[in-house]
Amino acid sequence: MTPEARHTLPADHYYSAEQYAVEQEQLWYEQWVYVGRADQVADPGQFLTVDIAGQNVLVTRNDDGGIRAFYNVCSHRGAVLCDETRGATKAVFQCPYHAWCYDLNGALVATPRVDKDEVDRSALGLKPVHVDDWQGFIFVNLSRSTPTPLREALDGHYDSPLRFEKHKMEHLVTVQRTESVVAANWKILIENYNECLHCPIVHPELVEVVPTYRTGETGDRSRVDGGVPLITGGTSYSDDPRARRAVLPGMNEEMAHSIYGSQVFPNMFIDVAGSNVVTTRLVPEGPVQTRVLTEYLFLPEDIAEPDFDHSTVVDFCELVGGQDYAVSERVQRGITSRGFAHGVYPAKDDYVHQFNQYYRKVMHES
Ligand code: FES
Ligand SMILES: [Fe+2]
Repeated sequence: MTPEARHTLPADHYYSAEQYAVEQEQLWYEQWVYVGRADQVADPGQFLTVDIAGQNVLVTRNDDGGIRAFYNVCSHRGAVLCDETRGATKAVFQCPYHAWCYDLNGALVATPRVDKDEVDRSALGLKPVHVDDWQGFIFVNLSRSTPTPLREALDGHYDSPLRFEKHKMEHLVTVQRTESVVAANWKILIENYNECLHCPIVHPELVEVVPTYRTGETGDRSRVDGGVPLITGGTSYSDDPRARRAVLPGMNEEMAHSIYGSQVFPNMFIDVAGSNVVTTRLVPEGPVQTRVLTEYLFLPEDIAEPDFDHSTVVDFCELVGGQDYAVSERVQRGITSRGFAHGVYPAKDDYVHQFNQYYRKVMHES
């Protein structure tokens, strides 16, 4: 391949409002987007409100146990229906403006002081969006047409997460969530995740724990399963050398002492270690800002141990994450320079190239 064929995306793709607007329509509102864990809406009436590149969506569970998702907007005059990011309602969502009420399937069931025959209630329910879950992870899709089924779509990803199904992640429990706001375009964060040439410089603590990363490689080329060995003999993504007793299903001895990563296009990272999983959700808040939500998932039997302590994993991942956010913001500050038109991909940036190629395909740029 010629060096010309391996240019990164043009610089303006990382800051232009026009490019972001095209991404909203062609990418964010057409792809399955990760929004949260199914156990956050375990019971009927529990709900989440989530942002997908500027569109707010209400996710809940109905009385039949099904997960439902709707645009978070009242059909009367367009008021935002729910303000809370997480909560529970007994039977209905009531609009704070004129008190119209919607049941857990989105049907309009009450219009106080407005007679039943004044409006066609059957046509004024909440507007549904596609929703499905996989391994306990809820995804929504805002497409106006019928999207490819979720699991099939995940199977088509360049970094297929289906290889993690053997770990039965639906049984894991989230013990902590963290949130950071990063002044960088969402693609800069993904590109940073997809390469490790920066690891020896930016992550001195990480390369102590994962020596392969010292070479600038994202993986161990001698391993066919994509696993990267942990030096500590530990089984978690941390600098804690203690092996945890509980190991995820589907792990053999070598796997239990390794880490695995997958970038699920467009907004999720899944990092699997022997005994825990860390997920990252990116929420773009415009062309130059991204909210990063991280979840720490462990096995119930591990959590039940009297000396269970997840702080070493959280502290380590937050340290590494903070280092990544700082360099991502550095790129964002530099990328608007008149002295920069686009970047290049050295060989070890293959995953960045793969991400860019997938992005170009989705955006009809290739
Ligand atoms: S806008 Fe919601 S009830 Fe009027
Ligand atoms: Fe990094």
